[in-house]
Amino acid sequence: MNIAIVLAAGKGVRMKNHEIPKAFIDVKGKPLVYYCLATLQECSLIDKIAIVVPNDYFDDAIQYHDTYGFSKIKHVVIGGNTRQQSVCNALHAIKAEENDIVLIHDSARPLVDERIIVDSIKCVKKYGAASTCIPSIDTIITSKSGNKVDSVIERKETYSEQTPASFRYSLILKAHEYALDDKVANASDDVQLVRRLGVDVGMVLGDKKNFKVTTEDDLNYLKAIMIK
Ligand code: CTP
Ligand code: MG
Repeated sequence: MNIAIVLAAGKGVRMKNHEIPKAFIDVKGKPLVYYCLATLQECSLIDKIAIVVPNDYFDDAIQYHDTYGFSKIKHVVIGGNTRQQSVCNALHAIKAEENDIVLIHDSARPLVDERIIVDSIKCVKKYGAASTCIPSIDTIITSKSGNKVDSVIERKETYSEQTPASFRYSLILKAHEYALDDKVANASDDVQLVRRLGVDVGMVLGDKKNFKVTTEDDLNYLKAIMIK
């Protein structure tokens, strides 16, 4: 079984001028989270969906099954204080089989498409774990201080990571349990938790349009490029 976990429990602190959490901001008459749910609902390879939401949006999310016809939503899960905790809550809620494939997707990436989802599932079948990424356009520098350059990384070896990140259920569950045992509690993504186990993670080519809506500018850009 292929299960999508849709993360929508963030606050959207970097999205100024909005009272409500980012995933529920209105975009052309629908909450932002609607758009990736619609793509996952339509994708024949996805068997069920778990959506992770803030406590106050639990009742809204329960309605999505009927309001939008999202019949694949089988779990509505309350998120945690961090992205990592939100994923962990969902992994426990879905109680999947060891070999099931779990796709973890940020609702803040509304324009994910079927090709990425299909490639991500194929990649898990090959490697057990799949990261979605695009080659870096810019050369990446690192700096601990923020004032002085520590290093410049060879551009052709750098990528920007997107979601979905997909894994065999047993692997991602183990990665989250080990992370907590090691007091790693605020990881920004799931791939790094799996890499801590020393496991190979395959790469799937993402898409520029699968960008993450983070700021007001991103929201305006999204509205401008959406066709429906
Ligand atoms: N997320 C989550 N639970 C959290 C934090 C984040 O489910 N406690 C989800 C967000 O809803 C989002 C995804 O993780 O879809 C990526 O996070 P990000 O873009 O950072 O969203 P926010 O944390 O909401 O934004 P900000 O960091 O600006 O507050
Ligand atoms: Mg965040």
